[in-house]
Amino acid sequence: MAVSSLLLLVTLYATQAAQAAVPNELFSPLIPQKVLTTSESLPSPIMYPQYTNTWNVSNPGKWQDFIPDTWTSGFFPASLYALNTRKNLCGATDANALGTADWLELARSTSSGLIPLEHNNTNLQHDVGFVSFPFSEELLVNPQNQTAKDAVNAFAADLAARFNAVVGCTRSWDTPDPTDFTVIIDNMMNLEVLWASYALTGNETLKDIAITHANTTMINHFREDGSTWHVVEYNSTTGQVIRKRTSQGFSDNSTWSRGQAWAIYGFVNMYNHTQNPDFLQTAQRAATYFLDNMPSDGIVPDFNAPLVPPPRPADSSAATIAANGLLFLSQVDASQAEKWSSAAVQILSNITTLAWDPSWQSLLSNGTVNWPADNFLTGIVYGDYYYIKAGNTLIEMGTNASTSGCDTTGTSASSSAGAAGTGASKNAASRQLPSFSLPRSLQDLV
Ligand SMILES: *[C@@H]1O[C@H](CO)[C@@H](O)[C@H](O)[C@H]1NC(C)=O
Ligand SMILES: *[C@@H]1O[C@H](CO)[C@@H](O)[C@H](O)[C@H]1NC(C)=O
Ligand SMILES: *[C@@H]1O[C@H](CO)[C@@H](O)[C@H](O)[C@H]1NC(C)=O
Ligand SMILES: *[C@@H]1O[C@H](CO)[C@@H](O)[C@H](O)[C@H]1NC(C)=O
Ligand SMILES: *[C@@H]1O[C@H](CO)[C@@H](O)[C@H](O)[C@H]1NC(C)=O
Ligand SMILES: *[C@@H]1O[C@H](CO)[C@@H](O)[C@H](O)[C@H]1NC(C)=O
Ligand SMILES: *[C@@H]1O[C@H](CO)[C@@H](O)[C@H](O)[C@H]1NC(C)=O
Ligand SMILES: *[C@@H]1O[C@H](CO)[C@@H](O)[C@H](O)[C@H]1NC(C)=O
Ligand SMILES: *[C@@H]1O[C@H](CO)[C@@H](O)[C@H](O)[C@H]1NC(C)=O
Ligand SMILES: *[C@@H]1O[C@H](CO)[C@@H](O)[C@H](O)[C@H]1NC(C)=O
Ligand SMILES: *[C@@H]1O[C@H](CO)[C@@H](O)[C@H](O)[C@H]1NC(C)=O
Repeated sequence: MAVSSLLLLVTLYATQAAQAAVPNELFSPLIPQKVLTTSESLPSPIMYPQYTNTWNVSNPGKWQDFIPDTWTSGFFPASLYALNTRKNLCGATDANALGTADWLELARSTSSGLIPLEHNNTNLQHDVGFVSFPFSEELLVNPQNQTAKDAVNAFAADLAARFNAVVGCTRSWDTPDPTDFTVIIDNMMNLEVLWASYALTGNETLKDIAITHANTTMINHFREDGSTWHVVEYNSTTGQVIRKRTSQGFSDNSTWSRGQAWAIYGFVNMYNHTQNPDFLQTAQRAATYFLDNMPSDGIVPDFNAPLVPPPRPADSSAATIAANGLLFLSQVDASQAEKWSSAAVQILSNITTLAWDPSWQSLLSNGTVNWPADNFLTGIVYGDYYYIKAGNTLIEMGTNASTSGCDTTGTSASSSAGAAGTGASKNAASRQLPSFSLPRSLQDLV
């Protein structure tokens, strides 16, 4: 890094030290190292990591693997594609450890275990969207890959078949009573597969279903204050709302933080596809609620849940998903771009301080999979995926990072940073300045 830009950074750091720094860990060589180790120890026949086993206190942080027909199976292959993207953005150096594997080859071979899931997805239901992510990633690398095209189109057709025009939504979970039509806020994320297939086929029905689902969700899943319900049950024959409740959150009336994060990302994505200002406004409301209700310590809880230990349901995956939603929002909401990207960096900084754990197989700890089911204090594969993706997006939002390495182990500015940080937030002062050239759009945040 040039001396002048270092001085600039230190000056900004001193004058705006209350703002969080981009955490070095986002670009740590531990990320490729851990992901490679996990990839080398996947079982055969293949199963995919979902969350870690913290309930074994003598041996915490070990991945638990699940059969391919599980909603989370696409996230590990998608993480491998994300490291391929990062290698293309950053180059491979000894310091960033991105040269230790052929990420694209690993991503492809690991994805192949998801086929032919699109013809036998008894457990996936609406979550075909999440499982399609690696195939959409493949199409960015090789738009001609017929296997990936077929998978995206088949998953989209599966989701489209769950659409009910009376309700105006695709069904999330199957229920014993088929007239009890359950829609969860997470389903906003699955709409992307409809757009992906529409892009491949031009089939307008897929696009229309996505728009109608989002429109209905915008009306029924949101409370006045911009918070969301996790579950809305409709009557499939009348279209009426029967009840609103939680499934994985703290209580029916709390706001499940991961659901709120899915809502931010999902509505920004709908806006990015349609330019419909209602979707942008909905994303802004969801984001504003999220940020306004964040406790001062920056740890993302179930909103409205009691904050007292033992331990409250913090969720590192909600934090990383929200950070991605906010970075995406900063890209489409130009007039408030800095507010949203600054908030994203703050969340990433706080969650890194809390949950980055080099001793675990996952990148992060402190995930809550399902509070009522006592499944919390875990690493979570989608929390890790969105952590890697946030790092990539921060690089992509900046200038040409490929020459400066994207690694954090080079020249250390820690002593200057320490001095400049005196009297600043503890969090910032204890950190080294990133040694890569920060994206221009982020320099004023440091
Ligand atoms: C917990 O981990 C320890 C150490 O690896 C192991 O010996 C023990 O069997 C584990 N217990 C359970 C219930 O998995
Ligand atoms: C095409 O994509 C699939 C699924 O992502 C992958 O398994 C396969 O290796 C790819 N084929 C080629 C030739 O790249
Ligand atoms: C489909 O999935 C179910 C449940 O996972 C499994 O029992 C069944 O054997 C699968 N069928 C085929 C044809 O793969
Ligand atoms: C478009 O997609 C819908 C929903 O999957 C399907 O029913 C319809 O047959 C498709 N249209 C064409 C022309 O393929
Ligand atoms: C939905 O409405 C129909 C017709 O009124 C009724 O028969 C059915 O029990 C309702 N289902 C639920 C889950 O409320
Ligand atoms: C959204 O839903 C409302 C209420 O059902 C309806 O009036 C409106 O036409 C819908 N808009 C779109 C774009 O589907
Ligand atoms: C949840 O909120 C509704 C509407 O404000 C209220 O009627 C109900 O009593 C609340 N339930 C609980 C358990 O707090
Ligand atoms: C937003 O839309 C543009 C134009 O379709 C697309 O190039 C871009 O990838 C989208 N952004 C994200 C983060 O999906
Ligand atoms: C979160 O960030 C704020 C502001 O930078 C800081 O005051 C606080 O100590 C941080 N908390 C954690 C747990 O990192
Ligand atoms: C974070 O996780 C650790 C165990 O990994 C736990 O001791 C700590 O209490 C958790 N913190 C919060 C705020 O949940
Ligand atoms: C980034 O830097 C590399 C090395 O200097 C150069 O080859 C490449 O063209 C640059 N890319 C862009 C988009 O400027």
